[in-house]
Amino acid sequence: MSIALLYERSENDETGIKLTAQQLGIDLAFIPFRKIAFSIGKDGFGAKTKGKDYIKTLDDTKVVLNRAQSKNRRLHASYIIETIGKKAINSSQVEFVCYSKLRTLLNLYKVGIPIPKTVFVPCDATDIMKSGKEIHNEKDIADLFEQEFPISTGIVVKADAGTHGKMIMLSKDRDKLEANIKKIKPSIINPIGVVAQELVQKWFYDLRIIVSKEKGKEPVCYHTAMARAGFKDFRTNTFLGNLVFHSRLPLRVQELAIKSGKALGQDTEAWIFALDAMVNVGNNKDADEESIKNQLDLATQAWAPVQKIKTDQESLTNFQAWNKKLETAFNTYKDTSVYENVNRIIEESVDKNQRDLVFHESNSCPEFWENTRLATGLNVAVPLLKSAQSLIDN
Ligand SMILES: Nc1ncnc2c1ncn2[C@@H]1O[C@H](COP(=O)(O)OP(=O)(O)OP(=O)(O)O)[C@@H](O)[C@H]1O
Ligand SMILES: [Mg+2]
Repeated sequence: MSIALLYERSENDETGIKLTAQQLGIDLAFIPFRKIAFSIGKDGFGAKTKGKDYIKTLDDTKVVLNRAQSKNRRLHASYIIETIGKKAINSSQVEFVCYSKLRTLLNLYKVGIPIPKTVFVPCDATDIMKSGKEIHNEKDIADLFEQEFPISTGIVVKADAGTHGKMIMLSKDRDKLEANIKKIKPSIINPIGVVAQELVQKWFYDLRIIVSKEKGKEPVCYHTAMARAGFKDFRTNTFLGNLVFHSRLPLRVQELAIKSGKALGQDTEAWIFALDAMVNVGNNKDADEESIKNQLDLATQAWAPVQKIKTDQESLTNFQAWNKKLETAFNTYKDTSVYENVNRIIEESVDKNQRDLVFHESNSCPEFWENTRLATGLNVAVPLLKSAQSLIDN
């Protein structure tokens, strides 16, 4: 019985998982999810691409690492896998929760994890009647939001199932709030209603924390988080050109992350999450902002060679050679004094304000090879594969 990697396109993360499995002596099978026709009916269950039957592969598989990129595809993938009697990491139950920021927050709230105040209004911004007439609800929705948080400190409207900072919109006055609500249309990244959040008074960074669980063991939190940093926008997604650093986590934060993982993992025996957290520092900023901006500008220059290698096509033809170059460039970036300074400022800020940290999202299929791994030293493929193995061994 083996482990299979289910993927859409083989990206660097997937190649990284494959390489790590080789290093750990784990045999991996591969399931190209988007290319397969799954069939059910009186002839039973089938799984075939145009050229290959995957039934034997699936029969021999006990655990599937679900690396489908779209949240919808991932949810379907885990559900199909479980229906035919296999295990998925993460499970469909976990995917269902992580799919939605609201569902994630409800589960965290229930066990007392600090979260940003969040308001969900199930009504859509625009209703289209049978007659074709449009009814605009953005003013009513804005009223409901304003009843819950002051607009003067900022309200973040967000697509419930979005990623990469897409449709995460900040409003600091009523007109902007109504305009932003109006932009939220029912879609794959926001199936229903409108979600809003208080603007967390974070500084120039946020955190991505890895927690995982193997069957038969207590969950663990990796001691160091990835910090994503920049002043360009209130969103600090790396996708938007922000820089990455690492930040050692206070024990209290690690414990909260484990508690969050347990709440999201629910009854499943093995799981892995990348939790997003922000620190509500308010005015508690201990370093001069102009000087940090200068340091970040210098760090951006030091980061450029890393960025260049990331886009190099050699990753497709000679992954190991490309990876060596990436590691060397990243280590050069990490060795700069600006990296060290910014890292220290972030760590001190997290440490000082650890009681004001809030968790706001959980990623069930995180990207890790290029940033998280090199910034924090944790190759997420290792806990992922070990969690899968624990489901076979135990
Ligand atoms: N309530 C908030 N207050 C302040 N900043 C926020 C808030 N919500 C989100 N942000 C900023 O916007 C970024 C993106 O938001 P979030 O993590 O909710 O969604 P995402 O971009 O869709 O997720 P992913 O991290 O999976 O790409 C966060 O990393 C954070 O920097
Ligand atoms: Mg996020």
